[in-house]
Amino acid sequence: MERSSSEIIAENREYTLFSWSVQGTANPMDMAGGQGCWFWTKDGTRYLDFSSQLINLNVGHQHPRVLEAIKKQVDEMCFAGPSMATEPRGQLGKKLAEVTGLQKSFFTLGGSEANENAIKIARLFTGRDKIITRYRSYHGATMGSMTASGDPRRWPVEPGIPGIVRVFDPYCYRCPFGKTPDSCKRECVSHIEEIIQMEGPHTIAAILVEGITGSNGLLVPPDDYYPKLRALCDKYGILLIDDEVMSGFGRTGKWLATQHYGIKPDIVTCAKGLTSGYMPLGAVIVSSEIAEYFETNMLYGGLTYSSHPVSCAAGVANLAVYEEEHVFENVEQQGEYLATRLEEMKVLHPCVGDVRHIGLFSVLELVKDKQTKEPLAPFNGTSPEMGALAKYLKSRGLYAFSRFNMLWVCPPLIIGREDLEHGLGIIEEGLKIVDSMLEPQLTAADD
Ligand SMILES: Cc1ncc(COP(=O)(O)O)c(C=O)c1O
Repeated sequence: MERSSSEIIAENREYTLFSWSVQGTANPMDMAGGQGCWFWTKDGTRYLDFSSQLINLNVGHQHPRVLEAIKKQVDEMCFAGPSMATEPRGQLGKKLAEVTGLQKSFFTLGGSEANENAIKIARLFTGRDKIITRYRSYHGATMGSMTASGDPRRWPVEPGIPGIVRVFDPYCYRCPFGKTPDSCKRECVSHIEEIIQMEGPHTIAAILVEGITGSNGLLVPPDDYYPKLRALCDKYGILLIDDEVMSGFGRTGKWLATQHYGIKPDIVTCAKGLTSGYMPLGAVIVSSEIAEYFETNMLYGGLTYSSHPVSCAAGVANLAVYEEEHVFENVEQQGEYLATRLEEMKVLHPCVGDVRHIGLFSVLELVKDKQTKEPLAPFNGTSPEMGALAKYLKSRGLYAFSRFNMLWVCPPLIIGREDLEHGLGIIEEGLKIVDSMLEPQLTAADD
């Protein structure tokens, strides 16, 4: 018998645990199918996916070429142990070396595991312990990756793993040093050098950063940030680990976000857009120097499902879609339009303090007051205005990710102008509601 949305949700809630939720207040919607940029519930409610699920479904829902590759691999050979050589594993490794300029991949099941293994590899290779990360960062939910994250999700697992040292971020809208990008001396890099000296350069294995910070506010750094950070790493023999789990594979219009800045990391971690989420897969991609080291030294690491053939086959097909269907060109075109529309919203709406965008990776940062920049919701909190905005977007069939005082716009990379405009139109209506909620406060402040 066909089951309704509410029956499915009730069963899920009774027998499964939902991530990042107080279970009694978890409010999942059910999902029964999807196509392209849209998905729907069992009861037929349709949503435009402005979040690519968890900013991972880059080629959209149910892309036929990726589905076909998965089905073919399942029929041929569904599983091979991690010590086996398989065709899709080698093909995917070779392609990743080509697009990143690095050498060898170690495959995991997702981004958290990729970062765990990157930390381990950096420690083995350098013989040093400490890892520098940034406060406004998320690197995953396993114990090590969670500790490496700066964001409040790490608080409950502290003290976590030892050896993590945190630094400030290139957050120009709210510069931690009180500067502006045109006149600052890039204190966001120079203070890292001071911290390196205080910690002892010989104790630091790596600096681990998100290519472009994603779920902590989409922080697009100034153009010279990465060249300066790379130079700092080189000066002290510290590895640069680039977490491209969210910002990689075309989200910004290039394979890696750091490729916009002309630098090469020593290690790249990735997941999400590697298979567009069609199968679980992550990777740690290492430079030829690191690969060479492990020719004669043990790689202390392994996972039963490392290099899963079905996941690797999905990855090969998904990367071919990016290239052969000119997906990154679409990101550039639609990204330009998205940028223009977001900048307009910033001018038109009192509640929009800042917008940040690169490719189809963007955020609106909402404020109570443009002058004071008071956030529309506190750090690590929410507010009636943010709640009303989220409720409105959902009621209009727009699925978008919001957190604290920010709203992300990260649609599938295959989105066309019509769907993009449709979603942005709904967001504009939502912003009007927020503006009107703020009006009495603005008037009261004027009195
Ligand atoms: C930048 C970044 N790194 C790592 C992760 C963790 O990846 P996963 O959830 O696949 O373990 C995420 C997840 O959102 C992420 O955004």
